[in-house]
Amino acid sequence: MNTEYLKIENIELTATFQYPASGVILCDARLLKLYPEYFSPEEALPTLALKAGETSKNLGQCLKIYEFLSENGIGRQHTVHVFGGGTISDLAAFAVSTFKRGCRLILYPSTLLAMVDAALGGKTGINHLGYKNFLGSFYPAEKIIIHTPFLKSLPKAELRQGYAEMLKYSLLSEDLLLPDFASPLLLEDDLILSFAAYKMQICAIDPYDHKERLLLNFGHSFGHALEAASQYKIKHGDAIVLGMNIACDYSFQADLIEEEEWNAYRDWLSQYPVPAAAFRFLDETPFEDMIPFLLQDKKNGQELRLILPTEAGIKVVAVKLHQPAAGFDTSRVEQGQRP
Ligand code: GLY
Repeated sequence: MNTEYLKIENIELTATFQYPASGVILCDARLLKLYPEYFSPEEALPTLALKAGETSKNLGQCLKIYEFLSENGIGRQHTVHVFGGGTISDLAAFAVSTFKRGCRLILYPSTLLAMVDAALGGKTGINHLGYKNFLGSFYPAEKIIIHTPFLKSLPKAELRQGYAEMLKYSLLSEDLLLPDFASPLLLEDDLILSFAAYKMQICAIDPYDHKERLLLNFGHSFGHALEAASQYKIKHGDAIVLGMNIACDYSFQADLIEEEEWNAYRDWLSQYPVPAAAFRFLDETPFEDMIPFLLQDKKNGQELRLILPTEAGIKVVAVKLHQPAAGFDTSRVEQGQRP
């Protein structure tokens, strides 16, 4: 594999864990328990344990972080080191970005989802008023240090969530080689880095989600609505795979793609093992229950801007929603290109 293009300025892959030299640590409580040898050096830095998960990505934990930073005299010149998966990095980076208008930030993603997606590109956020990532900011970390041995202790259900994002990338770029989600999932460092590099390339072109980056939200409008409507019982990756399936079905119904292409998308997506409970929730939830969450999605104003397969590839499509009827109006392709 040609690894030249995998050199990304602010991403470091490390086989050997290195404890930070200064600053403070925000860390998933589970990592502290799983890796005491990493986090108990003789001269430990002040460390705050955080609870992971979408239901913990809230203002309450954010306030705890502000208090911790304040008690430890942290200023804008100090570095906050954040260890954890996507919900921890979203929450902690949001707190760091808003504390004294932002401190130095280094992320150490510990899950596959965070390594290939959440920790990259500077999106931060917390859930509020029942909506996903309702409060947030763009605040890229100055460095992302990926220690892939963390994946050895990651439960398979969590690995699957990261695989969902890789599956999404593989639909957006033909250059990415998606491994089989077989047991064991083969995750070489170069493979992880190739997916991370792809995301970083898109974020470099469109850091603030105006055009090309919007395509990375494929499956996310429906997916976020499902996550929030299920009170986060459906996990992010599972939800976005369902969301990509819904998007493909909608594209076919709206004549944006032919049956052959629809089947090709569905076949590709079917390699992902969506849990039965998530399918059940989707079957049992009326579409109208999803509408408030779709309308609150950050990408949407009065009309929905959905990322949909079209004859010209995956594009941003403006769609008017009929209310209260469960359905969409005709769509028009607005912007975005297959990267
Ligand atoms: N997860 C999509 C993005 O970061 O833009």
